[in-house]
Amino acid sequence: MAQLPGLADEQHEVPEFVQTARAQMEELDRWEQITEEEARLAYEMTRRNELSGGTPVVRRFEQRWRELVGTRYAITTMNGTAALYSAFFGLGVGPGDEVICPTNTWIASIAPALLLGARPVFCESDPRTGLIDPEDVRRRITPNTRAIVAVHLWGWVCDMDALKAISEETGVPILEDCSHAHGATYRGRAVGGIGRVGCWSLQGSKPVSAGEAGILATDDAEVFDRACLIGQVNRIVGMDLAQDTYRYLQPLGTGFKFRAHPLGVGIASVQLDKLAGLNARRGAYVEEVEAGLADIPWLEPIPPVEGARRGGYYGFPVRYRSAAAGGVPLDTMIEAINRAGVPARPSPYPLLHRLPLFAQGFDLFTRNRGPLCGDYRGYREGDLPVTEALMEELIFLPVLSDPIPGAARLIVECLHQAGEIARRL
Ligand SMILES: Cc1ncc(COP(=O)(O)O)c(C=O)c1O
Repeated sequence: MAQLPGLADEQHEVPEFVQTARAQMEELDRWEQITEEEARLAYEMTRRNELSGGTPVVRRFEQRWRELVGTRYAITTMNGTAALYSAFFGLGVGPGDEVICPTNTWIASIAPALLLGARPVFCESDPRTGLIDPEDVRRRITPNTRAIVAVHLWGWVCDMDALKAISEETGVPILEDCSHAHGATYRGRAVGGIGRVGCWSLQGSKPVSAGEAGILATDDAEVFDRACLIGQVNRIVGMDLAQDTYRYLQPLGTGFKFRAHPLGVGIASVQLDKLAGLNARRGAYVEEVEAGLADIPWLEPIPPVEGARRGGYYGFPVRYRSAAAGGVPLDTMIEAINRAGVPARPSPYPLLHRLPLFAQGFDLFTRNRGPLCGDYRGYREGDLPVTEALMEELIFLPVLSDPIPGAARLIVECLHQAGEIARRL
């Protein structure tokens, strides 16, 4: 706990928090997220005073991201939320529009759309994969739908063929939120380059960490130019825009600044060198644990959709079958897994439709204006029953990034023991 300057009494103690990643089980995982290499580059950049703007390191990182994703354009932002804001703005999302988004995601997948005046329409997740359910998306499309947010949650990849088919039929573009899925692919294509626009968080706990930053990629010149106009003030001096339409607004664009800190991007550029190795190690570990679940009737892997190669592995959800464990409730089983020595937890994200913001609404722009008031009906328990039920069946296991030999086997043994422990709890 830190203290506010000049205030000594306990009442004013404020919690400190460091949101970068570290090995989740230090005795089994040798991983260090940040090493000398990142520190050296940050030092060199600082000495060069390469601390603001579209610097050489920033430009090179964006170029590499374009190559990774296979898009013509990419631009960094100060965080993933700003990348999403820029992408929604790029798509022309505005007042009166609706945006379809799974309720099972992080709030930033949809929050920027609100600030642009659009109304969220929450949809179900496919109960097998926990990812956006394309059929439910189809049911919720109206003439006002302006975007569909496909979130590759925890590194699992959405059914992009089904979503693309809906997008092509209806003309509603797909925004891919890839904040958990750096380096994941679908039918050989990198996620983020399949829909109209892709966004990534590069926040400190992500598979590619800048500490704080984000990035957006697209093949669409209009989306890209608008994204630059909303957040890249003064950086680009007319250089980055892909077409002439908005050149008259340069160099100040709309005056907004969502630019990334170059030091963060420098750190992310070193992290990007390590992404393939990280994904290979995390993937091998996850697959080995999943294979080990074959002997545990009450835990099942979450199957990737056909054609997907997972990446990022920001979390490791597995499916809990309480009936197969003699009806032991989820919380008790999680407690038992923890007692067996494996840190496990329920889904860390609240379903968005349950948040007071979306359930009750909010006078966002005051005087009864904005997308969450007026005729906004809000959400009630039972409105998204498939996803609500799914939350009672998810257990998150630790993700090991550089496991010692035999680590996955040990985790599976602990899970077996947890079954015994749960019976005694
Ligand atoms: C799915 C998802 N989208 C967007 C974001 C927002 O990214 P940032 O925290 O960098 O703003 C996050 C962050 O955790 C996320 O998990």
